[in-house]
Formats: sequence, C-alpha cells, structure tokens
Amino acid sequence: MENPFDLNNTSGYSRWRDRKLADAITDTEDLIVEFKDPRALSQAEIAALMDRCRRNNMVIYYTPDPSVDEVMVRRFGSQFGLNSLDANWLADEDGISRVTVSTEDGQRQAYIPYTDRAIKWHTDGYYNSPDRQIRAMVLHCVQSAGKGGGNRLMDHEIAYLMLRDSNPDFIRALSMPDAMTIPERTGEDGVARAAQTGPVFSVDPASGKLHMRYTARTRSIIWKQDQITLAAVAALEDLLAADLPYIHRTVLHPGMGVLCNNVLHDREAFSDNPDHPRLLYRARYHDRIAAS
Ligand SMILES: [Fe+2]
Repeated sequence: MENPFDLNNTSGYSRWRDRKLADAITDTEDLIVEFKDPRALSQAEIAALMDRCRRNNMVIYYTPDPSVDEVMVRRFGSQFGLNSLDANWLADEDGISRVTVSTEDGQRQAYIPYTDRAIKWHTDGYYNSPDRQIRAMVLHCVQSAGKGGGNRLMDHEIAYLMLRDSNPDFIRALSMPDAMTIPERTGEDGVARAAQTGPVFSVDPASGKLHMRYTARTRSIIWKQDQITLAAVAALEDLLAADLPYIHRTVLHPGMGVLCNNVLHDREAFSDNPDHPRLLYRARYHDRIAAS
C-alpha cells in the first residue's frame, strides 16, 4: 500500500496532499452533524458523521437527547469501532472520565483537566506508552461553563502537511524516536508513570494512518536538543498560533461533543456557574475510528 507519509514518496504525498486540501472543511458549521438517538444512529446519521471523520479526522456533533450518560457514550463510540478504552488511573471505573473541576483534595487537583485553567495545544495521551497510544476519543458536553471553556481543534494531518510543505526536514526530525521525552511522574508511592520517549509523528503499521503525539507545554517535556528539532517545534508552535481556516473554534454546549482521531486541540480557561459546573465525559480509545 502506498504510504504518503514516507518522505521519499513525493508523488504519493502530492496526491494525498491534493485530496486532503480539497476535502478539508474550513467552515466550522460544516463540521457539525446532528443526530437523534446516540444509542441507535440511523444510516444517514452515521454516513454524515463518517464523512466528516474521513475528511477531517473529526466531527462536532449535537444530539438533543438530554439523557446521555457514560453508558451511552460507550455505545456511541462502539458504533464507530471504538471499543478499547484507555483506563486512565484517574478515570472512573468504567474507563470514561468525568472532566469537571475537582473540589476534593486529592490527586485530581494536580491535573490541569480537572481545574478551570486553560490547556495548551496537545493530543491526548502524549505521555502514554507505545502500546497504549490514544488514537481516538469522544468528548461529550453535559454542562458548559458559565463563561469560557471553548476549544480549538485542528486535524493533525493538516499540521503535518503544512510542516512538510515548509520543510520536509521538520517532519524527519519530529519522526525520530528520540524527538520528545516526557519525564517520569513521581507520586507519593514512587514512580506513578515511567518516562516516555518517542516521536511526534508516526505511522500506525496496522492502518497506515498518521499518528501524532504532542504538547505545547513547556514544563514536563524535554525536546531533543538539536537545531532542526527545535526549529520544527517552533514552526509547529507558529502554525498553531496562526489564524488558519483549518483551526476550528467551538464552545461545546450541552448535547454537543467531538468524535475524533485524537486531533490537536486546546481549551480556554473558564469560570463555572456554581449551580451548574462544567461537565464533560471523555472516552479515550486505543482504536482509531473504523474506516476513517
Ligand atoms: Fe485533551
């Protein structure tokens, strides 16, 4: 099978690139698909959701069904071939996290997702071991913030494309197995998570699809200290700070969510309405959305 992500395959890349840019949605409204019942999607609804995922690696959805819970998020995902949940040690027992501001003392408060602070650009699970990479996720909004809490989303394949167009050596550097290291995290009982070193860009051998690990954090990350890697990281930062039509801005309201192949995303800071704190269900999968 032709691999457009091979830097030696310039004609294959060129064909993939043309198709990618022709298909890419630039109007965020066109990324939004509505469906009625997350437990039983119609063929037309699945087709509309899949169309966005194939073209953009993501879809923003809306369902008026107010009864969505963790079980339903799981059923929704399984209709897209998403079954292997990443059981994060902070996730609730069923493997789906309730992302909300933590008011209890404890470990959750140490993690930015469980605060009202902004989260910089990243892909989920960039610190996971190679056998537990996050290839897809569902983020479902039960309650939005009183103010703020919006997200930006960008197809990681477009980020790859723009970097490769500006300098293929950026891709070469960011595909090195020692490009990025996340240091170990030590908990009270010793090492809670081992250090992880790996590439930003890799190709999943099973699907031939591009995978990306990234965080714009500057703490708890060590970039390979050579000129080309640092230049590539700076170019990626510039790209994500630019006003590009491929960067989608959205505020998830109740009933809205994102289904994606772990695309690049960030989160604004927010303030809660104390009566209705922001709550999102987050499911992370080792699978990729089937046939996307
Ligand atoms: Fe995230």
